[in-house]
Amino acid sequence: MNPKLINLPKIVDKRGNLSFFEFSGQLPFEIARTYWIYDVPGGEMRGSHAFRAQKEFIVALSGSFDVVLNDGSKIEKFSLNRSYFGLYVPSMYWRSLENFSTNSLALIVSNKVYDEADYIRNFDDFKKIKNVQ
Ligand code: TYD
Repeated sequence: MNPKLINLPKIVDKRGNLSFFEFSGQLPFEIARTYWIYDVPGGEMRGSHAFRAQKEFIVALSGSFDVVLNDGSKIEKFSLNRSYFGLYVPSMYWRSLENFSTNSLALIVSNKVYDEADYIRNFDDFKKIKNVQ
């Protein structure tokens, strides 16, 4: 499956809205881990690596930021700015999170527990593994 934005249910209520995701309703994988990125200083970038096997789903629970995906030959930018949709990121995409707004909160769930061996942190290594120039 390619990267894609996934709309989430939005239960509109005058007491406040509610959204959710679960496997197998919205997510294409079972969640093994949840983490979040917050307090990002202006101008900072997170990520800039790829995962060999890990898949992720990213939601801007608050504020906004961009997720830039590079498959080795083409670059796609997704702007996340609402808590009722998120981005599915398959394994083997170089991914960066950037352009964070003040007080933004990135929620990330993945199908693997943390494993540094799953990271590809060097872009040249990534291109070699993808077999692109
Ligand atoms: P990293 O994944 O490189 O951050 P990002 O991609 O958001 O810029 O992780 C930064 C550090 O945090 C790294 O030393 C590993 C640690 N870490 C964990 O221990 N567990 C986790 O679930 C994550 C995502 C990171």
